[in-house]
Amino acid sequence: MPLNRRHFLLGSFLLGGGGLAVVAHQAVSRNNSLTQPLTSATPLPPPVVNTSTNVSGNSGAASPEPKVNNPAPPGLFAPVKKDVRIVVISDLNSSYGSTTYDPEVIKAVELIPGWQPDLILCGGDMVAGQSPSLTPEQVRAMWQAFDANVAAPLRQANIPFGFTIGNHDASGALGVRGQFLFQGERELATTYWNDPQHNPGLKFVDKYQFPFAYTFEQNDIFYLTWDASTAKITPEQKAWVEKSLASPAARSAKLRIAIGHLPLYAVSVGRAELGEILSDGEELRVLLERYKVHTYISGHHHAYYPAHKGQLQLLHSGILGSGPRPLLNSNLPTFKTLTVIDIDLGVGDTTYTTYDMKTMGLVDIKTLPRLIPGPNGTILRRDIEESDLTPEEKSLTFVPNS
Ligand SMILES: [Fe+2]
Repeated sequence: MPLNRRHFLLGSFLLGGGGLAVVAHQAVSRNNSLTQPLTSATPLPPPVVNTSTNVSGNSGAASPEPKVNNPAPPGLFAPVKKDVRIVVISDLNSSYGSTTYDPEVIKAVELIPGWQPDLILCGGDMVAGQSPSLTPEQVRAMWQAFDANVAAPLRQANIPFGFTIGNHDASGALGVRGQFLFQGERELATTYWNDPQHNPGLKFVDKYQFPFAYTFEQNDIFYLTWDASTAKITPEQKAWVEKSLASPAARSAKLRIAIGHLPLYAVSVGRAELGEILSDGEELRVLLERYKVHTYISGHHHAYYPAHKGQLQLLHSGILGSGPRPLLNSNLPTFKTLTVIDIDLGVGDTTYTTYDMKTMGLVDIKTLPRLIPGPNGTILRRDIEESDLTPEEKSLTFVPNS
């Protein structure tokens, strides 16, 4: 694979008011051509301050509405805005039946408009179901709470909300007779998302099995979301995925992104086992690659890990809600994240800027493990190529219960 080394940004700056030293780091990828971090001796960039204004093209007078080139919430690092900006959040829920959200969820919702994204993508687990003891009233109350705390403020900010259904939203787990074990939760999730008042603002291409499996397009990007609320992508769904990705809408898009709750490969402690990753991870990766899907975005593992394997970028989007998990092959403490993806459509670059939601500093990709061996394959950190690995790293294998 040819390398297109682009820039990394590595430095430290002070958050206004907080006095908190943080490390900034951005990773850029051209399609699947990956970046290499600069050394720590690289000159540090100055903090980016959102003070620029645009001037009205008609009268030459200053616009009454200040408009920033690289928007970000006040005091936070401001990534360079490209053709399309997506904010990725995931795993918002607290304990079973909860109608409240952790402070990081509330903070993220407050901050998101400041980045001026074109789209939000949510990796699932928006509510805290999947317990047989929950009544329909409790499940309805959770979706109401999700709406009040998350969806409604983002609708009011006019930001489209793309999402995938998680196991705690409406699990597709089947019983011994092939019936849905959480049929009631699936119906209530369907009711919530089909209510016109809860319109997520997406330009649908195919509402096939909305909200479980559907496609939409925005800004020349084709998005496919599948029902990965369990480890099984059914043969019917695979056939629909193939048909969707072969469609003129998908083929003519400048970029294709897929999103599902369970990842193709394992990244976190306690989730590196059957049932916690898609059971046909390798086959599904090949399927996505065949149709030139650029990135697969997932949740469920409660740990942030930007990776790649083969031709496919893998964004394990981390968590905002309860229960962050340690990464495999790492001694890092747990942390919660939100990621801003900036996309250059001309060349197919994606740039991730990931914020630690406790400190609001940036996550330094170099602190993450260079590779993660899992039960169904090894994935590499986004900036690492196979040729970068040491013999020792190449010999690393997955150890169950590690
Ligand atoms: Fe989950």
